[in-house]
Amino acid sequence: MKLTVIGTGYVGLVSGVCFSDLGNEVVCVDKLSEKIELLQQGEVPIYEPGLKELIQKNTEAGRLSFTTDLSEAVQHADIIILAVGTPSLANGEADLTYILGAAQEIALSIKGPKIIMTKSTVPVGTNEKIENQFKQLSVHPVAVASVPEFLREGSAVRDTMNPDRIVVGTESEAARQRIEELHRPLTDQILFTDVRSAEMIKYASNAFLATKISFINEIANICEKVGADVTMVAEGMGYDKRIGSSFLKAGIGYGGSCFPKDTQALIQIAGHVDYEFKLLKSVVEVNRDQRYNVIRKLETILDDLSGKSIAVWGLAFKPETDDVRDSPAFEIIASLLHCGASVKAYDPIATPNFRKLLDHSKVEYCSSAQEAAQNADALCVLTEWSEFRAVSPAMIQAWLRRPNLIDGRNMYSEEELANTELIYYSVGRPNMNNGVKEQTPQLSF
Ligand code: UDX
Repeated sequence: MKLTVIGTGYVGLVSGVCFSDLGNEVVCVDKLSEKIELLQQGEVPIYEPGLKELIQKNTEAGRLSFTTDLSEAVQHADIIILAVGTPSLANGEADLTYILGAAQEIALSIKGPKIIMTKSTVPVGTNEKIENQFKQLSVHPVAVASVPEFLREGSAVRDTMNPDRIVVGTESEAARQRIEELHRPLTDQILFTDVRSAEMIKYASNAFLATKISFINEIANICEKVGADVTMVAEGMGYDKRIGSSFLKAGIGYGGSCFPKDTQALIQIAGHVDYEFKLLKSVVEVNRDQRYNVIRKLETILDDLSGKSIAVWGLAFKPETDDVRDSPAFEIIASLLHCGASVKAYDPIATPNFRKLLDHSKVEYCSSAQEAAQNADALCVLTEWSEFRAVSPAMIQAWLRRPNLIDGRNMYSEEELANTELIYYSVGRPNMNNGVKEQTPQLSF
């Protein structure tokens, strides 16, 4: 099949590359000429395991190419895939400027009938807007389908090649057949819906996953007060097939390019139809507050943070990505600075991106985990990179000036801590001091 993908962000680039690997002829389009030049040279503008190799393989095979020329590129396609960004506006609504702009440009360029497949996350009703735009601007018939994307950063290629399901929302039988044909090599689990339901499925899925995370984070906060261990609680809950074990890892809250944006957007979508999504508003609030637990714990141990040197391991919003969008590390480091501390930060790959967000005289970006931890008054682990897991708590203690470890991702076990003198605070688990668990709190009933 011949495909043109508009937008070479995570969704567009990974989808385009994976479709080319399935044997389709794919042209990827982006307005940013630097990005396209980079891709033409076989370089990848984002860090995503396995992507570079696939780009190289499929470019060499002549199935994959990159261009800035949208009007030329769309002529080639049976299906045009819209995968441009829908960032948040200041009020939390999704900004549709790019997607409607791209649709307009396509409408003015096409010289024959086309299928438009929207992969960008868009509010309910947007695909109808796009369809109307085509009707107004073009004489050629166009079938629009909403086919939301569920890939995760860091495992984007694997997720795209092995999806749990494909959702296809369209009123057009022709589009339905072609899109089914395109996805059949990936899965048999293809769900056909109307357009609005497909648009809603994406928001509802992300909102539900965000809810699971905020839920377990609140359970963790209660566990800390009643002396229970959230990892055991989550495991015990997860065996129940109705609950499931995934997305029950307590930590410092979710970040990234999707959950924060999509939860806000869904609250706005509901608001537009006079519905207050109270549950989701609380999910967002809990998530915002969860990251400050790191500061509260540091203050419990160090009292006053002013003048202290704090090491931070992990700047990306999660491991295996260099993405720092809405990373909890930003607000945590900003709070540390606000409290008068200085920060020594290290991330295996996200430092250059993070430095663009925060370039401050009191933040030293280090080139190794050891350099960051050396002589610090406390270490905060904010992203669960395997590189950090490989460092023993005994080693961490040897590097630190004072033996204080705040583990925001529950990386280290009781056994590993048993032979150290660390003061260790994690999330929803008993604190440790000198290798010994702190006493279970007295309950007053
Ligand atoms: C998410 C969705 O998973 C994906 O389906 C959608 O297409 C885009 O948004 P992504 O943002 O790449 O993907 O990362 P994900 O692995 O879902 O993690 C999101 C955030 O939640 C991270 O900050 C992560 O640390 C946090 N998280 C995840 C937890 O705190 N606990 C968990 O149990 C799982």
